[in-house]
Amino acid sequence: MRNKIIKQKGDLLAALDIGSTKTCCLIARVEKVKDQIGNHDLPKFSVLGIGHKASEGVRGGAIVDMEASEISIRRAVQAAETMAKETIGNVCVNLSGGAPTSHSLGAEVSINGHRIVDADLNSILGQGKMAHIDDGSELIHLFPIDFCIDGHRGIKDPRGMSGQNLSATMHMVTALSGPIRNSTVVVERCHLRAESFVVSPYASGLACLVEDEMDLGATVVDMGGGTTTIAIFFDGNVVFTDCIPLGGKHITNDIARGLSTSVVNAERIKTLHGNAFLSPIEDRETIEIPQIGEENISPPNLVAKSKVIQIIQPRVEETLALVRESISNSGFEGIAGHRIVLTGGASQLPGMREIVQEKFKKQVRVGKPLRVNGLADSVSGPAFSTCVGLLSYAIDTGFDRSKTIGSGQNEPTGMLGRVSSWIRENF
Ligand SMILES: Nc1ncnc2c1ncn2[C@@H]1O[C@H](COP(=O)(O)OP(=O)(O)OP(=O)(O)O)[C@@H](O)[C@H]1O
Ligand SMILES: [Mg+2]
Repeated sequence: MRNKIIKQKGDLLAALDIGSTKTCCLIARVEKVKDQIGNHDLPKFSVLGIGHKASEGVRGGAIVDMEASEISIRRAVQAAETMAKETIGNVCVNLSGGAPTSHSLGAEVSINGHRIVDADLNSILGQGKMAHIDDGSELIHLFPIDFCIDGHRGIKDPRGMSGQNLSATMHMVTALSGPIRNSTVVVERCHLRAESFVVSPYASGLACLVEDEMDLGATVVDMGGGTTTIAIFFDGNVVFTDCIPLGGKHITNDIARGLSTSVVNAERIKTLHGNAFLSPIEDRETIEIPQIGEENISPPNLVAKSKVIQIIQPRVEETLALVRESISNSGFEGIAGHRIVLTGGASQLPGMREIVQEKFKKQVRVGKPLRVNGLADSVSGPAFSTCVGLLSYAIDTGFDRSKTIGSGQNEPTGMLGRVSSWIRENF
């Protein structure tokens, strides 16, 4: 968690998604336009520059080779800067590595009838922080879910109110210091400063959920190349996040191994012929599989499409079983909502939506970035939700909840309202 500067109209925003398969940089300019979805006067941004390159040196969402990762970042940033005709200094960076862990916690302070001020918030939030930060970990996010004064729950911003006792329910995300430091150093080597780190599924949710989903409860499942990450949203807050080290790359490797073909061919076969569901018609279709090391020597093998799907399906089922376990261990299964929003590149596998619907018995849709101007078609798909969400975080945008608690002119209009913005600036 870093101090951040609240952005103003005309400011530049920059986001860096260091993914297991691609590294993406987006540069945008803050502008204010009418939101087409809810007619709210939302702060929004226009994307000026886009750069995305294949990631090297990232595995399971964590940097494992700093030199290689630096090269991918430099290339992505340079492409975005050239397109935007701007140079960036600060970036908002995703975090999937470092085992980000969610903690739910409660804390209480006595206020003895005085009006609650920032120092009281500091004291109550500090208690939460002390409980879960140890030498090996760092605080990434601290979300106050609910404040309660003398038994009256549902208070979003208690400052200015009076009572005897103030209690808070909070959601805190911590991650291992080592991987955070590695990302910080690699970003610095590219002459940039990591202004803030945001756990990937939270960023993805900011990009692809609509207001009702955030309020009523929805689970975002970002299916990436090396990870499948989860964020549960409820009542406008993110209440749980998790990261499973399985993604689309594992499916590709299974195909390469199972059919004795190269990883490049396996990737092509997966995207052209893959499916998470086996239907009888696929048994009759055959596809050509070039044999590893014999591409130009021997004719390709003919393999039934059903064989490819039989390789894909167990890995998808294994991943979904872990997602299910994570949600049920989260303690938020009841409020996770009836809705799952799949995003990330691997959510585009045909049949994925249907298999998730069948396994979870919930409404499922595939989500891609919303509320953004200037995204080229090539980067408007589910694989870019995290990066667009990082821009949303950087602008401190989302839904203008602060209006309901009385915003001042220069106060941020963040999804989580003034308190979260205050935490991000001060805590
Ligand atoms: N049409 C498609 N069908 C199936 N899989 C696809 C399709 N398009 C992309 N993928 C898979 O999506 C994965 C990449 O997704 P994404 O770009 O979201 O990952 P990432 O952000 O780099 O990785 P991570 O978030 O795990 O660190 C790859 O494994 C790729 O094979
Ligand atoms: Mg990703």
